[in-house]
Amino acid sequence: MNRYFPLCFLLLVFFSRPAQAQQNTKQIFIQTDKVTLGFTVGKNQKLYQSYLGEKLANSQDNGLLPATRHEAYVPAGTDNLFEPAIRMVHTDGNPSLELRYDKHTTQQQEENVTATAIHLKDPKYPVEVILHFNAFQKENIIKTWTEIRHKEKKPVVLSNFASAMLHFDAPNYWLSQFHGDWAGEMQQQESQLTSGIKIIDSKLGTRAHKYQSPTFLLALDKPAGENHGELIAGTLAWSGNFQFAFELDEQNSLRILAGMNPYASEYRLEPNKPFVTPAFIFTYSRTGKGQASRSFHRWARNYGILDGNKPRLTLLNNWEATFFDFDEKKLVGLFDGAAQLGVDLFLLDDGWFGNKYPRNDAKAGLGDWQENKTKLPSGIGYLVEEAEKKGVKFGIWLEPEMVNPKSELYEKHPDWILKLPNREEHYQRNQLVLDLINPKVQDFMYNLVDDLLTKNPKVAYIKWDSNRSLTNTYSPYLKTEQSKLYIDYVHSLYKVLGRIRQKYPHLPIMLCSGGGGRVDYGALPFFTEFWPSDNTDGLERVKIQWGYSNFFPAIAMSSHVTSWGKQSVKYRTDVAMMGKLGYDIQVSEFNEKDLQFSKQAVANYKRLSDVIWFGDQYRLVSPYDEDRAVLMYVSENKSKAVLFSYNLQTRHRDRFTQIRLEGLDPQKKYMVQETNLYPETKSSFTANGKTYSGDYLMKVGIAVSPTTALTSAVFEIVEKP
Ligand code: GLA
Repeated sequence: MNRYFPLCFLLLVFFSRPAQAQQNTKQIFIQTDKVTLGFTVGKNQKLYQSYLGEKLANSQDNGLLPATRHEAYVPAGTDNLFEPAIRMVHTDGNPSLELRYDKHTTQQQEENVTATAIHLKDPKYPVEVILHFNAFQKENIIKTWTEIRHKEKKPVVLSNFASAMLHFDAPNYWLSQFHGDWAGEMQQQESQLTSGIKIIDSKLGTRAHKYQSPTFLLALDKPAGENHGELIAGTLAWSGNFQFAFELDEQNSLRILAGMNPYASEYRLEPNKPFVTPAFIFTYSRTGKGQASRSFHRWARNYGILDGNKPRLTLLNNWEATFFDFDEKKLVGLFDGAAQLGVDLFLLDDGWFGNKYPRNDAKAGLGDWQENKTKLPSGIGYLVEEAEKKGVKFGIWLEPEMVNPKSELYEKHPDWILKLPNREEHYQRNQLVLDLINPKVQDFMYNLVDDLLTKNPKVAYIKWDSNRSLTNTYSPYLKTEQSKLYIDYVHSLYKVLGRIRQKYPHLPIMLCSGGGGRVDYGALPFFTEFWPSDNTDGLERVKIQWGYSNFFPAIAMSSHVTSWGKQSVKYRTDVAMMGKLGYDIQVSEFNEKDLQFSKQAVANYKRLSDVIWFGDQYRLVSPYDEDRAVLMYVSENKSKAVLFSYNLQTRHRDRFTQIRLEGLDPQKKYMVQETNLYPETKSSFTANGKTYSGDYLMKVGIAVSPTTALTSAVFEIVEKP
């Protein structure tokens, strides 16, 4: 006999445990259209989490939810024996905190957003902890963060400061984490949690992501599928050191702590100054991962990325086409390629600056943001004009936070650099990080962007890069407060980005960080898109983009066709088209057919991009399950869909089953048309050109997978009257 009860029974049994449960005095509910997070104030005035799950159909039933032993935000130093949410040492040296319910407020921030703040206070010390929850009704997303304040006479010291703490009681817990490295970002791995603590974290300083991404899926009871299973999907909106701790206790209860990494970050908090944590953003789904991802995508477009509901620019980037080896003439020649393809913008990458120390490779010039006079004697303005003449806009690469030791900036301002005294400088990519905590450095960075845009108001796009993490680090500005460095660096970055956004609210900016190092909702509100990886090999990209798609929408995922990868141009293009299409290639090296195909592909993309950018995504076959990947996007009104299908295997005679489509209207009729065909080829799919009901497509399905190794197909599915 299965020794586990269904989860609901277990929860009931658990909630009614008499020994530790608290009697209700008050209940607080954070609710979206489909999700409820419930809290109960116990008789002892402590706050307990009493429910996280599907919204109850009858709101009266909320009152029946029993109290639990799960204190909502557990402080350290008293009776807690597990990982705390907060640890504080008071001015008098007392290392404990008690948190009692004081009051709560709920406000309708806008029609779709309810903001709740639960105030907790220490009965003995003048310390207040406010738990904030913004509930996004339609998207079923909850955004939660913590504010810590005190009125002691001197600073207190904080050594734990979770953004969120959540409790679960399930028979089993399955954690999906997303890990990787440079050029191998967002690889998905699922494992069952065992007793003790599992920590996923990063200590990279300038970014959250490289080895571990600040995202996870946690399935309750059994591993979740795309359309089944109970899970939460969560991410931390923070571009620096983060930590997720998953602690399974002796009673099989799980507590999740999400926040900035406490590592080397004891924080002296002055009286009356709020310490505000980054937000932990999560959704709950009882219908699998697909629903959770769609919730995230919708939320991101509405709230999480800049201008998420506005179109994006397709572009041609010169990085992989030229690397540092270019001059004015060569660039102007490349504009022709952009015009030929029909993309909107040309993006000039690294290597355009530095005079005393020209940026002709990655060893020199970083920090000296003046046009290199040998390469670009006529300056950026000339390039903008020339691009315009060819009908394309112009964008430019910057890496404002960094400096090469071989630079005038380094020579002039040695005190503007994060580096350890009495130790050797430690380089990554021959560079160091500027001490962004210093307001003079913040001004330098802001002015760099502002001057560039003031001098060249037609610059239409920026790629903001950040190519190293923090090692051997020390802030000359912080002096004796070095343990504030990791936290204050990220706050300072946001401050500069905020200033830039005040003056340039809608300029498209791509967030890049040595590939996909900075993909998080802390930074993305300042950016229109991100660079997922330097690895643009078509085959590799299928998995990388798949990983990101769990949390981040296609509209924000810059995906370029390059010469990296042995697959055909069609394959690499079909892969790039599932995100925000761009190119990073010598167009003049295309043969005639590849060029013809690519021009048509850009035109096709412009026709399909509305659905890819603003539609709902359905992942139909995972590259982790089979030697193929299939996914589709469906417009909100279900009148149009696009399906992408990639063969990943290299073996002869593999057979694939036909696929049931999703997200369509069963009542509607749809014509299925293979598109993005290579010149002089015909579709070999029987469904091509046929009309089916949505019902048929979703119940019977059609064959969409090419059987030849490393080939791909794109289908346009359009409602027929
Ligand atoms: C990083 C980026 C690349 C490119 C180079 C330029 O590696 O990820 O796309 O911009 O920097 O140096």
